[in-house]
Amino acid sequence: MDKVIIFDTTLRDGEQAAGGSLNLQEKLEIARQLERLGVDILEAGFPSSSPGDYQAVELIAKEIRHLVVCILTHAKLEAIDLSWEAVKKAEYPRIHIVLSSSEIHLVHQLKKNREQILEMSCSAVARAKKYVDDVEFSPMDASRTEPAYLYQILEAVIDAGATTVNIPDTVGYSIPDEFGSIIDGVFRNVPNIGQAVVSVHCHNDLGLAVANTLEVVRRGVRQVECTINGIGERAGNASLEEIVMAIKTRSDFFNLTTGIDTRQIYKTSRLVSELTGFSVQSNKAIVGANAFRHESGLHQDGIIKMPITYEIIDPRTVGVPSSSLVLGKLSGRHAFKERLAELGYNLGDDDFHRVFLSFKELADKKKNITDRDIESLVAEEQRSTSEVYHLDRIQVSCGDRGIPTASVILTTPDGQTQAEAAIGTGPVDAVFKAIDKIIGVPNTLIEFTVKSITEGIDAIGEVVVRIESDGTTYTGRGADTDIIVASAKAYINALNRLSINK
Ligand code: KIV
Ligand code: ZN
Repeated sequence: MDKVIIFDTTLRDGEQAAGGSLNLQEKLEIARQLERLGVDILEAGFPSSSPGDYQAVELIAKEIRHLVVCILTHAKLEAIDLSWEAVKKAEYPRIHIVLSSSEIHLVHQLKKNREQILEMSCSAVARAKKYVDDVEFSPMDASRTEPAYLYQILEAVIDAGATTVNIPDTVGYSIPDEFGSIIDGVFRNVPNIGQAVVSVHCHNDLGLAVANTLEVVRRGVRQVECTINGIGERAGNASLEEIVMAIKTRSDFFNLTTGIDTRQIYKTSRLVSELTGFSVQSNKAIVGANAFRHESGLHQDGIIKMPITYEIIDPRTVGVPSSSLVLGKLSGRHAFKERLAELGYNLGDDDFHRVFLSFKELADKKKNITDRDIESLVAEEQRSTSEVYHLDRIQVSCGDRGIPTASVILTTPDGQTQAEAAIGTGPVDAVFKAIDKIIGVPNTLIEFTVKSITEGIDAIGEVVVRIESDGTTYTGRGADTDIIVASAKAYINALNRLSINK
């Protein structure tokens, strides 16, 4: 079977999603997990866009040795030179150049004519070729580009040395059959197309990113650009897990394969959701909480008799934990360790000890501890190991008559403790104000969400907070059975990220 190359852009286009910024260590952690997942190419960032991106690319290029590490760059020669510096230590580096090709972009944004764009595209590819053989070129907004001009650009950049040409549906405008015709046109009308890998990059503005991608895979495209959980600019990108599982589940239809270890999908999805703060909707295909849940009696009856009646994918294929074993307060270290291992966590002794203590504390409050609870405990533990400020204590009083009042004690970076109190319009407002009195970094709260991670009145509540300071968004998360405590942890987590960046 032919292989489809999986190009993951979670760390570049995915991170471009509003409010999705990741720090250096988080990017590296995701890159390592993408390596375990088996992606072929990892787009690590856009080095010329910010010093943070440059540093992240440099680190990932050094650490990730078994796959292609790619960077995105504008077609400007200085940007290409600088981007190369960031990625040059990679074992398999790739330079990916982007330049708009649609009339809409040329007239309204770039204010350049077609000849100029053609010339810039070829010089950019030639410049990148001085550094590395593996060069990808993307004519941005290709799906709205006049076909004859698109063919002309593609032919020219392949002649200049591009080894992959990517056809982006930048604004998610295409309809599958129409996008298929664009790709057919490329195969038919670009004389040297056989010398390059043909790739696509679809956005999800009309909810068609995966459908468009699969349509053209069927028509001969052999590289797909996608992100974990479909995160990305605006409505996001084509979702990796959906493309990969469609190709695998319907291999009778596609007759294709990928190099993805599908058992790593669920873990990767959880990690990306956890670190970016973007929750996965419950009904999301493949990785949503309800993706393998059967509610109707008729369906349950079928599943018990024979899973294939209503289940087209065995959840274990994508690494969804089986949850057959529910832990509780009588469960010991051994059972807990085993469950952690089944969930894919391999913690050192100290980390294990701390998570086990949190597990015991939780088991005193909650009868059945599920896999989602355990994932949340581990995530909370991982957050607390990199803290600048730490929540020591919190006390809140509120109600319909009283004035919401909060007092907090935090451990500060010098290891001292500091206490403050504040009143607010509600308990969360009072807590945040008390925390502000200690940490004192001006910011604007732009998002606050709370949700329970499992069902039941005793469930853990997970809070996501996004704050903005100097034009940058920072995401914080916190989890606790008490949602006010979870809110305080999430806010401190966001402020910790902000203070590390300052
Ligand atoms: O959406 C887009 O066109 C892109 C390019 C850089 C491929 O992200
Ligand atoms: Zn994109």
